[in-house]
Amino acid sequence: MLNNIFDAHCHYDDKWFDEDRTQLLELLPKAGVSGVITNATDLRSAEVIRGYAEKYPYIYFTAGFHPENLDDMPDDYLDRLAQLLKHPKCVALGEIGLDYHWDIPRDLQLRVFEEQLQLAVGLGVPVVIHDREAHGDTMSLLRKYRPKGLMHCFSGSVDLMREVISLGMSISLGGVVTFKNARHSVECAAQVPADRLLLETDAPYMSPVPLRGKRNDSRNIALVAEKIAEIRGLTAQEVLDITAENAAELFGIKNP
Ligand code: NI
Repeated sequence: MLNNIFDAHCHYDDKWFDEDRTQLLELLPKAGVSGVITNATDLRSAEVIRGYAEKYPYIYFTAGFHPENLDDMPDDYLDRLAQLLKHPKCVALGEIGLDYHWDIPRDLQLRVFEEQLQLAVGLGVPVVIHDREAHGDTMSLLRKYRPKGLMHCFSGSVDLMREVISLGMSISLGGVVTFKNARHSVECAAQVPADRLLLETDAPYMSPVPLRGKRNDSRNIALVAEKIAEIRGLTAQEVLDITAENAAELFGIKNP
């Protein structure tokens, strides 16, 4: 059985897990999962997932405002995020970024993304970046602030991947790499430097083939690792070990 599965990005507070969350979170370590970073989408979400991190040793969490969740942002949101980031298991400011797929006011998205980048750089914590159809503006802010961190569910070209790497950041790949039309992801999986690659589910979404469309969870990273192993000429276990070590290093986790 494969082990040392580290899921660098998922959302276990999603309502899709409401029915059986406790059973699932208890099962994952027995199924080879050694670490999970469950990501916040707003303050409420950060407080809920802090509870999971306090209950399960293998779970870590982030705090941040996702561009789709800017509606009830309190005025003191930066102070409250900074408070959460003092928690020993709060490992990053995320997920933050830009989403130009949905009709969300861009000036608001840009302001909140920039303020959160400033906070992360000031505190010296990594960021987890969401970039959907907004590569240009995302990259120009990353160039300006140079945070350390992760471009999650990376969907860009190899050229963009090289630029992300040259800024000192890492990328994570997930189920998309197993999809038939995933040319960019496969090229990035082949060419990303070994020490800058992390694996993620983005659970409950983005299940790999042959589970596409079903609810995703951290165990399915085994399928992503098998695909990347085939692309890079490694074993799946080697891919899992390297990516788990990269995640621990990036997020400052001692014993995943
Ligand atoms: Ni996400």
